[in-house]
Amino acid sequence: MKILLSDEVKLVIDRFSEHGYTAYAVGGCVRDLLLSLNPKDWDVASPASPDETKEIFKDFKVLDTGIKHGTVTVIINSMPIEVTAFRTEGAYSDRRHPDFVEFTKDIESDLKRRDFTVNALAYNPIRGIVDISGGLDDLKNKVIRTVGNPKERFDEDPLRILRALRFASALGFTIEEETEKAVHKYHPLLGEIAAERIYAELKALFSGQRIEYVLSGFKDVVAFLFPEIKESLYSGYEALFGEVSLKSEEVFKAISLLRGDFYLRAALLFSSGKEADAETILNRLRSDKATSGKVQKLVKALKLPLPSTKADMKRFINAFGFDAAEDYLIAAEKVGCAIESKALPNLSSAKSFFETIRKNKEAVTIHDLDIKGTDIQNLGFKGAEVGKALEILLDAVFEEECENTKVDLIRFIKNRSEDIKHK
Ligand code: CTP
Repeated sequence: MKILLSDEVKLVIDRFSEHGYTAYAVGGCVRDLLLSLNPKDWDVASPASPDETKEIFKDFKVLDTGIKHGTVTVIINSMPIEVTAFRTEGAYSDRRHPDFVEFTKDIESDLKRRDFTVNALAYNPIRGIVDISGGLDDLKNKVIRTVGNPKERFDEDPLRILRALRFASALGFTIEEETEKAVHKYHPLLGEIAAERIYAELKALFSGQRIEYVLSGFKDVVAFLFPEIKESLYSGYEALFGEVSLKSEEVFKAISLLRGDFYLRAALLFSSGKEADAETILNRLRSDKATSGKVQKLVKALKLPLPSTKADMKRFINAFGFDAAEDYLIAAEKVGCAIESKALPNLSSAKSFFETIRKNKEAVTIHDLDIKGTDIQNLGFKGAEVGKALEILLDAVFEEECENTKVDLIRFIKNRSEDIKHK
């Protein structure tokens, strides 16, 4: 079987070969190439020590990425290639790094320490593919299976429990039975893993095509990670879009129909329970503030009924902004698809109101009014009265009681001046 390596990786492997070492492309890049996907990064394993690798590539830029663990990064044509000495490793007691690393001279022992069979493949253009654990068959059958005993692999690094779900979701694979049993049994070990590592895997998991399989088949793991929404995961979601009750399976289906975007899918998943739950979860995951803010905003929106008039749609956009309002409507549409028979009332009119408002650039905030605060002041209003007058005008424009032209707005507010000044 031939694999099309990038020129840079070929150069690295050839250069090692000139120095008497058989090096291999290894791990995710081999898996992705065999699946006709573009590798995100390139890893090479070689029998050379990091010092020897640095010497062999002394005419290139080489970074000391993790010398202690046998890794340096060789930069070729601005492409970083991680080169790691063949190694076996001990347990990860600090849940981040192996306690010890032992270098070996054969690729087979290096592959044995890896997480899943589909990630334990190596390729050298002369030797071909090295597959010690049935990774090629598992790739063909779309199966995620640990290399050897799942308990041992998960004990070494419990993050692998979540990685199993991530690969299943991202690649569209199924988790093999023994591996699945171990995921159910040992998932509380994830409690020992740093939030940043969990979050990185979750983001990839939530973007995956097979998220529905993970959410419905591994509720225990999802509930362990997000105890705040445990009840909904098992008993269903209440009061979405005002008062729509959904089975959890319907929510999972709707999530899978949404585009693969962590923010959007997480918001729908977290949209049950208290509004503060999303914030608690995302703080615990050390999420960036921007993502957390967007998720919270959409969670809040998803609890509201679909606007039933154009004026209500404008109020909705005023409260949440165009982007969140659009995502709210997209979520409503996907929920509608997931529940088929019980289609959401007002969805198609809400969508058409939204499109018209956006297309015609209709006023949705006081800044869109054809009048400024200074114009209002010139009419004799002072201090808080100015803001109050602008709010009244915006509402009048929403309700089409007044045109959004300066002349009409002035005429309208003059007639209301007594109300504003005496309140
Ligand atoms: N690996 C492992 N155990 C881990 C992390 C990684 O055995 N906890 C091994 C796997 O062989 C994996 C390789 O190291 O293929 C590279 O890891 P990483 O870059 O995290 O994942 P990839 O498999 O490359 O997947 P992707 O780049 O899509 O994240």
